[in-house]
Formats: sequence, C-alpha cells, structure tokens
Amino acid sequence: MIIANWKMNGNRAQVIEWLDCLQKYLTLSEQSECIFCPPLIYMDIAQEQISLNKMKITLGSQNLDYDSKHPKTGGIDASMLNDLGCKSVIIGHSERRLYFSENNSILSKKLVSASKNNIDIVFCIGETEAEKDKGLCHEVLREQLKALSGLQIKKLFIAYEPVWAIGTGKIPSMKYIEEIHHFIKDELKCSHYYNSDRPVLYGGSVNFDNASEISNLDSVNGLLVGGASLNPRNFSDIVKKIGQNNIWKIY
Ligand code: PGA
Repeated sequence: MIIANWKMNGNRAQVIEWLDCLQKYLTLSEQSECIFCPPLIYMDIAQEQISLNKMKITLGSQNLDYDSKHPKTGGIDASMLNDLGCKSVIIGHSERRLYFSENNSILSKKLVSASKNNIDIVFCIGETEAEKDKGLCHEVLREQLKALSGLQIKKLFIAYEPVWAIGTGKIPSMKYIEEIHHFIKDELKCSHYYNSDRPVLYGGSVNFDNASEISNLDSVNGLLVGGASLNPRNFSDIVKKIGQNNIWKIY
C-alpha cells in the first residue's frame, strides 16, 4: 500500500492532471496498490475522474469528524465519506494532533466512526525529536496506541511517522525503522484486541531515492508519502520502483 497524502495542497485542475498522469504511467495493478488522499473539498472531483478514467486507485480521506448528537458546523462524517466513494481515512496524523489538538479521546471517537462505516483506517503514530532524544520513543508510541484500546477495528493499518522526519528530509536509519515497526507489531499483538499481525506503514520524507530501501525492510508493509506525492511523475516513479524491487509482504 502506498498512500499519497496531499495535505493542504493542490486545486481542481491539479487533481485531474495528477490522476490523468497516473492513469498514463501506472498499470491497473500498480494503481490498485495506491490510495489517493486529496484535500476533502476535492474528493468529489477526484472520484469523478477516477470513474471517468476507469482507474483502480482507491480514494482516501485525510480526516473525518466523529459522530455526535450536537450539530457541528463544517463537520464531515464517515457516512458522507462513504457517499463520496471514499474507502480509507487517515486518523491521528501528527499535524492534526498538533494544530487541531486531537488527543486520544477525540481520536478514539474518530476511529469508532470510521470503523462503524466500514472505512479502512490508517492510524498514524510517531515521536518528536525531543522525545526520541530523551529515549521516550516506546513510551510515546505505547501511549498513542492506547486510543485503540477497547476497539475492535477490522481494517486497521498503522503508519509509523516520526514527527522529526515529516517534511524535513531526515530519515531514520533502517535499523531504527525496523526496530520500531517490530515494537509496534508486538504491542498490538499483546493488546488483546489485535492478536494477529497488523500491517505497519512508514511515513516521513519518503522519496524516490529512499523508497525502495525502506519498503524492502521486512517489517514495512507500505509507505505514506507526503511532499513527494504531489508531482504525479515522482509519485508514479516511486510506485514503479517499489514494484520492481519488492513483492509486498502478505499481511
Ligand atoms: P512527507 O509527509 O512525506 O512530506 O514527509 C509525510 C506525511 O506527513 O504523511
């Protein structure tokens, strides 16, 4: 699984151009490995273009709002995402934790909403540089994973995104990524709710040069790509390169 997370970038014309370009460069089977997460406001136009081009790429959302009894001006819930043909959602991204104050209690509600509506969940966790330097990485990740406790989510993917690697060009060593991914998998296995192996994706400054080395690691089951996904040629090249070097691990 390779996710293109556009964050707050792009416009209608770029969404169409990006999808047309992927249709040209990627085979249907390569497309089926990809999830496209444009800004919410462009999901409709993206879905239209995916249908028009008869593409196999999956549409995903960067966010959703949890169900609530109270009216919520500006809110978008999981049933609306379903209505748009959206199959996956990113929850817990560090930028949302930081700039939108999303804590474990809010994230748990979002997880429940997505799960109830059969939307696959990509749940992001990751430590800051200061936390890493203090040796707190395991503790921080364990705390973030608590948002999942008590929930039984069928289609759950974890994305490990060290906050210090997002958009910085800094990449952890392969040994570090491998160790943390194994830690996350083991934590989930011990959690009573997820006693089977769960796919863990890596995200944070993934680009054409490092994508295949990272994706070749045994414990890495996919990639979450931000900045390098905006250019369709770059993104397609990443997808192709990984496809050549890597038969994705079955999970
Ligand atoms: P980046 O972003 O690839 O630009 O580092 C990744 C992400 O935040 O999902």
